[in-house]
Amino acid sequence: MNILIVGSGGREHSLAWKISRSPLAEKIFIAPGNGGTAAIGKNISISVDDIPGILKLARDKKIDLVVVGPELPLVLGLADALDREKIPCFGPGSYAAQLEGSKAFSKFLMAEAEVPTADFKVFEDYHQAADYLKKQDFPLVIKADGLAAGKGVIVASNLDEALEALHDMMVKQVFGKAGEIVIIEEALMGEEASFLAFCDGHDFVLLPSSQDHKRIGDNDTGPNTGGMGAYSPAPVLPEELYNETAELVIRPIIQHLEGMGRPFRGILYAGLMFTSDGPKVLEYNVRFGDPECQPLLMRMESDIVELMMACVEGRLRGSGISIKSEAAVCVVLAADGYPRKYQAGHVITGIEDAEQDDRVKVFQAGTRLENGRILTNGGRVLGVTALGSDLKEAIERCYTAADKINFIDKYLRRDIGQKGLNR
Ligand code: AMP
Ligand code: GLY
Repeated sequence: MNILIVGSGGREHSLAWKISRSPLAEKIFIAPGNGGTAAIGKNISISVDDIPGILKLARDKKIDLVVVGPELPLVLGLADALDREKIPCFGPGSYAAQLEGSKAFSKFLMAEAEVPTADFKVFEDYHQAADYLKKQDFPLVIKADGLAAGKGVIVASNLDEALEALHDMMVKQVFGKAGEIVIIEEALMGEEASFLAFCDGHDFVLLPSSQDHKRIGDNDTGPNTGGMGAYSPAPVLPEELYNETAELVIRPIIQHLEGMGRPFRGILYAGLMFTSDGPKVLEYNVRFGDPECQPLLMRMESDIVELMMACVEGRLRGSGISIKSEAAVCVVLAADGYPRKYQAGHVITGIEDAEQDDRVKVFQAGTRLENGRILTNGGRVLGVTALGSDLKEAIERCYTAADKINFIDKYLRRDIGQKGLNR
């Protein structure tokens, strides 16, 4: 099969690596890809929001399967456009992708499907929203409806913070159209975990639990990022609870969308908060998490292409998934200054050395290849990922490998996986 992967992050490097291990994969293309994917397949310089460009590429290269990494092309209708041309796509159509593309849509769907989630209200008018805030207790969470690159959520501890967030979104329009509609919701307390499933529109196959580390600093301090590290399994969601949790947060959504004639095919990602009242959904994503994808795929033994084709063709029933019993940890090496200003263009050394250990893989994210050298080219630069017989061993192996890699301004968190160890 000729396979096209859309995206350019660490997630897409790990997808390309895993897909390349499938006997079904022949040619692999990545649009636009990064320094890591260039060593696996052919990078094609088309951006992820160029739907006609991706469509033409898929036609020209006789692509048999398109695997979409990020949410934006799904929200923009890439899967629908491919579907019209009978080109198989792993990822949902734009209607179902609103689960991620519109937080109001997502909350209304959760309410209809009776999925446990924070109580909420949706506002289209700034003054009504501000009046409502003035009558509430805090903390409260203010969310921009649309895609805001992970920055559209503010947990406000008092009225002033809440009003400022609301003003930024609805009046100053710092997130553009994404903030025209705002969701105000109850703040949930607890530990978070990510729970992902392969879905074929009707059935699903669960991946093991994982946990992201969204803040830039140790002990979850500082601004939010795209994710500074992840590990799997996450003890806050142990294997004994997978099926029960899926009945609460995965099946109702799949059934509801199927009932609406909008079957969900691809990865459904539930971002969960484990509260004293049980798990509640913070958000859905319609794709693999980055960096959760990296440790999950390190643990996965099954042929991912086979599983993706079963999803696309609606024949997942009876499929299983084989997962290594080992734990996996991914530590992100970032450029100092991220998620704000940072430099690019520094030479990266030590990746081969780190990968001398066959239980370590270094997935590249913000990198580019130039004259045989790998250069930094983004905020999150690398995702060093390691397996271990347990979480403790995986963490140790991961940091040993991470310490072998050098580039100017290298920054990493030192506490990835610690919450899991503390349990
Ligand atoms: P989201 O983009 O909805 O995942 O939100 C990003 C982050 O904001 C989540 O990972 C949580 O840490 C936090 N968050 C979102 N919604 C809530 C909530 N209702 N209560 C507490 N924290 C939240
Ligand atoms: N790691 C969080 C996300 O991919 O949205």
